Amino acid sequence: MNNIVLEAKNLKKYYTRGVETVKALDGVDFGIKAGEIVSIVGPSGSGKTTLMNLISCLDTATSGEAQLVNVRRQYIGFIFQQFYLIPNLLAVENVELPLIFARKPIDKEKIYKVIETVGLKGRENIPAFMLSGGDKQRIAIARALINEPKLLIADEPTGKLEIKVRDQLLKLFDELAKKGIAIFIATHDLELADKTNRIIHLQDGKIIPKEQSNLYH
Ligand SMILES: Nc1ncnc2c1ncn2[C@@H]1O[C@H](COP(=O)(O)OP(=O)(O)O)[C@@H](O)[C@H]1O
Ligand SMILES: [Mg+2]
Repeated sequence: MNNIVLEAKNLKKYYTRGVETVKALDGVDFGIKAGEIVSIVGPSGSGKTTLMNLISCLDTATSGEAQLVNVRRQYIGFIFQQFYLIPNLLAVENVELPLIFARKPIDKEKIYKVIETVGLKGRENIPAFMLSGGDKQRIAIARALINEPKLLIADEPTGKLEIKVRDQLLKLFDELAKKGIAIFIATHDLELADKTNRIIHLQDGKIIPKEQSNLYH
């Protein structure tokens, strides 16, 4: 069985800034399998967010493709760096939002189950603004999971989190991966990356071998 979930082929994204062309992604190839946790690391400006945006269809490639294999586009869940919760809505209401946008039935049992999955059972009725940073992120993950994605994408998920919260997040990702969800994390946090199944090094829009990465020296 071919269990590839995502495959990028010679993916390029060029931006034009005046007369200058910025090669944000310059021919990127990789694949991710079901149940795999893969991190993409690289310095600021190396193209990580551009790549995440292409995969999630927030942006279009200049050429090449990031193809979802046997997965429909709606089966991607996203966790953004800033979480983007609606502060005045309850935790549970934030998790409901994707169902409302997709005009799907609001299945309370399913929502409570997802909140339990991320370890926030009992905190469903707290307004988002009153949650801690780590709990906000868990709600953002629950919201990403509500449509039962096959691929979970997180752009800099540990940017503002303490080490303890980071370890809890990795534990949660491990549990999700065991259920067959592929997880793709963009980060400049090498300690986080080291705990994932595989690291892809990105520099100046290109995948490079670890030895050439200037993050290690
Ligand atoms: N909308 C844009 N217009 C022009 N240049 C951009 C745009 N978005 C990103 N870039 C450039 O593309 C490169 C990659 O940026 P980005 O994907 O945000 O990197 P990272 O997430 O690794 O920090 C950078 O040089 C950045 O300045
Ligand atoms: Mg970025």
